[in-house]
Amino acid sequence: MQTVIVEDLWKVYGRRKEALRGITFSVNSGEIFSLLGPNGAGKTTTVKILSCTLAPTKGKVNVLGMEAPKDCVRIREEVGIVPQEFQGFSDLTVEENLWYFVKLYGGTKSQVDELLEKIGVTEYRKTKFRNLSGGFKKRVAIACSLAGDPKIVFMDEPTVGLDPRSRRSVWDIIREVRSKGVTIFLTTHYLDEAQRLSDRVAVIYEGKIVRLSTPQDLMSEFKKQSLEEAYLALMEVLGDVS
Ligand SMILES: Nc1ncnc2c1ncn2[C@@H]1O[C@H](COP(=O)(O)OP(=O)(O)OP(=O)(O)O)[C@@H](O)[C@H]1O
Ligand SMILES: [Mg+2]
Repeated sequence: MQTVIVEDLWKVYGRRKEALRGITFSVNSGEIFSLLGPNGAGKTTTVKILSCTLAPTKGKVNVLGMEAPKDCVRIREEVGIVPQEFQGFSDLTVEENLWYFVKLYGGTKSQVDELLEKIGVTEYRKTKFRNLSGGFKKRVAIACSLAGDPKIVFMDEPTVGLDPRSRRSVWDIIREVRSKGVTIFLTTHYLDEAQRLSDRVAVIYEGKIVRLSTPQDLMSEFKKQSLEEAYLALMEVLGDVS
């Protein structure tokens, strides 16, 4: 079954900035799907449209059998989002931040405890958000995204700025969430991360999807041993000079 179906999706900012130029793809239920591509390629724009925080200019977007933007109120109830720039309430503690999101979805205090435990932030529950290190802020962002028991979670660069061990902890969390049947839609610039985690990857370049395959198939296409090398070879073919 497909959790997300996108057909000929366009996003034009203002009058002329074509951020998405007719992208088509679908995401299978329960998979970890990664959207890769250079800075400015259109990843965040795609994530925002699929998670109902931005209206598309044109095209079909179906999430969990519902149409965006028409059914966005219902879609939002079923999806979690880790935004590229997560802003927690800086003067609230970790548990207060979580409680805010859990309550929004009609949950209970015991769910806050479960999330704190699951994401490994229990010892910081009384710490104000602003006093957390970057890695723990990311963990809180992930915990908040899970507050409504989502069926799909969109994570826009969830491991940026994390030390290698923290990144691995986040990978474990992502795998754990997926093991419960949740679909994960990821964006990342860390190709080792995409290779390890993803069932499939799509590469977006200047607003168009230029590849969609398993990491292994992309590596085979360019006869490379790692997804990063294959990606760099692809960028060379595309003439990317950035
Ligand atoms: N609100 C906006 N108004 C005008 N242009 C925008 C707006 N938001 C994004 N863009 C432009 O749309 C294009 C795609 O941006 P987007 O943020 O989706 O890229 P991205 O792939 O997420 O990049 P990054 O890897 O740097 O996060 C870029 O050229 C960006 O400058
Ligand atoms: Mg982005």
